[in-house]
Amino acid sequence: MNLETVTLLLKNFNIQAFQHDLVRWFDEEKRDLPWRQNKDPYRVWISEIMLQQTKVDTVIPYFERFIEKFPTLDRLAAADEQEVLKAWEGLGYYSRARNLQHAVREVVSTYNSKVPNNPEQLGTLKGVGPYTKGAILSIAYGLPEPAVDGNVMRVLARILHIEEDISKQSVRRLVEECVKQIISEGKASEFNQGLMELGALICTPKAPSCMHCPVQAHCRAYEAGTEKTLPIKAKAKKQKSLDYFSLVIKDNQDNYLIEKRPSEGLLANMWQFPMVSKSDANATKLTEWFLENYGIKLVLKDTLTEIKHVFSHVIWHIDVLEAEVLDGELKKELATFVPQATFAEYPFPVPHLKIQSYL
Ligand code: ADE
Repeated sequence: MNLETVTLLLKNFNIQAFQHDLVRWFDEEKRDLPWRQNKDPYRVWISEIMLQQTKVDTVIPYFERFIEKFPTLDRLAAADEQEVLKAWEGLGYYSRARNLQHAVREVVSTYNSKVPNNPEQLGTLKGVGPYTKGAILSIAYGLPEPAVDGNVMRVLARILHIEEDISKQSVRRLVEECVKQIISEGKASEFNQGLMELGALICTPKAPSCMHCPVQAHCRAYEAGTEKTLPIKAKAKKQKSLDYFSLVIKDNQDNYLIEKRPSEGLLANMWQFPMVSKSDANATKLTEWFLENYGIKLVLKDTLTEIKHVFSHVIWHIDVLEAEVLDGELKKELATFVPQATFAEYPFPVPHLKIQSYL
């Protein structure tokens, strides 16, 4: 990234008029969202983490429940990780929740429970990348820092007519540099949220509502008629498909076997019905494999259902099989037989919640 490129992009761009039009529109048209009730940095932080890769409508009820359960930074820091994951259940990208709690604990221990208002300290916290850092600094503290997420990238690629691939890190840094130059000094919160709101309500990916756009007069893509071809973005790699069996195993007291996933990797520390990759145990070897790994002899019954779940990088295809315990003693760490009525106490990923709906 070089400053000449930024200067060139902002040549003949009427910064003051743009700020004025954007901020005024935001002040008049902004949605009444629960995290906009006040500027509490803790609430801003929670909301910005939840809003990553997740739509506003999905986030609202989670945000409200989360704040009710963990109303302060200290309460979240003191909570059990399992409780935090349970509150996040269904939102996906659970490392967001784990990193958030890790960072919140650091704020309690290192910064006397006050969310830092300086970029260096804030940026070292787990899960706080450039976007989240800028969002907290501008929205909670009013500081003129860029908060550039995918939506803001789209909006500014159109307004400034950036024809480079917006999935490139270098282009993101370029756009951040542009925002530093054009952000309203005294209205940084409204400016950044105005860009986000524009991306959500007007400057949408497929069919932007240019006729209703408050900054249409400043938009080079609109002027050139390229609003539907910009931004340019490399296609994400196709997800890899993974095939599994999942076993719904009942003992003779109607308890079900569930297990905690490893503390690293996808869905870390979440709970599930035992799963095995079909490459590790094909249908004929399944009971052998289970005896070997869990110490329990099973009687396999019918297929309960088949489940497909799309994650960001992989797709799970799960054949769910019912089984009963014949004999043996459970030797698997972090696995336990529990009654169905207690499932609600454990955080399960969505595909395993779906399985529960068949029981
Ligand atoms: N997306 C990311 N941050 C947001 C915010 N503060 N308000 C609305 N949508 C957002």
